[in-house]
Amino acid sequence: MLAARMSRIASSPTMKGLIAAENLRKQGFDVVDLGAGEPDFPTPEHVKLAAKQAIDGNFTKYTANAGTSELKQAICARYRTDYGVDYTEPEVIVTAGGKQALSNTALALFGPGDEVITHAPGWPTIFEQIKLAEAQLVIVRARAENGFTLDAQMFLDAITPRTKGIIINSPSNPTGALIDEEQLAIIARAAAQKGIWVVLDLTYEKLIYEPVPHNLPAVLRRELRDRSVIAGSASKAYAMTGWRCGWTIAPKEVVAACGALQSHQTSNVCSITQKATVAALSGPQEPVTEMLNEYRGRRDKVWEWITADSRIKCVKPNGAFYLFLDISELLSPTGIRTSTEFADRLINESYVVTTGGEAFDAPGFIRVSYANSLERLKEAVDRIQTFVRAMDKVTV
Ligand SMILES: Cc1ncc(COP(=O)(O)O)c(C=O)c1O
Repeated sequence: MLAARMSRIASSPTMKGLIAAENLRKQGFDVVDLGAGEPDFPTPEHVKLAAKQAIDGNFTKYTANAGTSELKQAICARYRTDYGVDYTEPEVIVTAGGKQALSNTALALFGPGDEVITHAPGWPTIFEQIKLAEAQLVIVRARAENGFTLDAQMFLDAITPRTKGIIINSPSNPTGALIDEEQLAIIARAAAQKGIWVVLDLTYEKLIYEPVPHNLPAVLRRELRDRSVIAGSASKAYAMTGWRCGWTIAPKEVVAACGALQSHQTSNVCSITQKATVAALSGPQEPVTEMLNEYRGRRDKVWEWITADSRIKCVKPNGAFYLFLDISELLSPTGIRTSTEFADRLINESYVVTTGGEAFDAPGFIRVSYANSLERLKEAVDRIQTFVRAMDKVTV
C-alpha cells in the first residue's frame, strides 16, 4: 500500500520512549524522562522578547526561502567570531533545525549507487536519511575501550571507489565523543584527493565541557573548502528545540540545491523563529555558558552515581548531554537479553525513560540524557539501581 521507500526506513526510536512515557503519565505514574534529547532550560529571555517583537511588528509573512539576510549574516558573524572563518550569504541556508539541514544535504548530494560512510554509535536519523536518499549506508564503529574516539583511519579504511560522502557528528550523540582536529584534517585531505564530500553535524558544538581544540570549521575551510558541508542548529545551544531553526553552510551550488528542495517542501523557516534566532546568535552568549556549566555538574554527578555499580561502565563524555552506559554485563540469555528490552522494562516497571543502544546501532548500551534537574536525575538513578538489584534476585 505504501511507497517502497517506506520499507527502507524506521521511525525515530527516541519518539517511542516519549509515547510510552506519555501513556504512563496519563495513567498517573510519576515518570522520569531521561530519553529526551532536549535542554530542560527555558529559551533565554532576550530571545523570547525578539520573537514577541516580531509578532507585534507583524513580521509574520513568508520570508526568502533560504532565510532572511539578517539571519544569514548573523550566522556568518557567529562563525567568524567563534572560529575565525569567513562565510558569505550565498553559502548559507536557514533550515527547520539541524535535521532539515542534514536531510536537504543528503538529498542534494547522495543517490543510488553512492556509498556514504558514517559512524556508530550514532544518531539514527543520519542512518535513515542516507537510506532515504537511496544511497548505501556504510557504518564504521567507534569503540568504548578507546573512549569512542573517531579515528581517521577507520573512515579511510571504509572508502571505496563508490564512496561519495562521509558524515561526522561531533560532539556525538549518543557518546559525547569529539573528533580531533588533526583526525578530521586527515579525512579531509583524503576526501579532497578522492572527490568525496565531508558533512559535519555540529548540532552540539556549544556543548563541549573541557577547553579542547575543536575548530572543525577552520579545518574544513583549509583542507576541503569546495567539498564540505556544515549542519548547525539553534536547538541545543540556545534551548530552542521547539522553534525549529538550523542552517547549512556549504558551497553555493549545494546551498542552491538545498534551496530548490526546500522551496517545494517547507519553504522558509517560521519568520518569528528567524527573528528569535538572530537574537540568540547575536545577543549575549552568557546563557549558553550558564547552561553548559550546569550540564557539566550534572554529568559529573550522574556519572559518579551510576558507575558506583561496577557492572555499569561509562566513558565520561566530552560533549552533548548524554551518558552512554555499557550495561552488557547485566544482560543474559536467561534474564534480560537486550538493551532495548532493558529500556522497555525500565519504563514499565520503574517509570524511567532511557533509550536502548540498538537505536544507535550499539547493542549492549543504553543512552540516558542528563538534561533534567539534579533532583530528578538522582531519583532516576535510585530507581535504576533498585531495578538492577531486583534483577539480581531473579537471576540468582
Ligand atoms: C546528532 C544530532 N544532529 C542533529 C539533530 C537535530 O536537531 P534539530 O533538528 O532540533 O536541530 C539532533 C537532535 O537530536 C542530533 O542529536
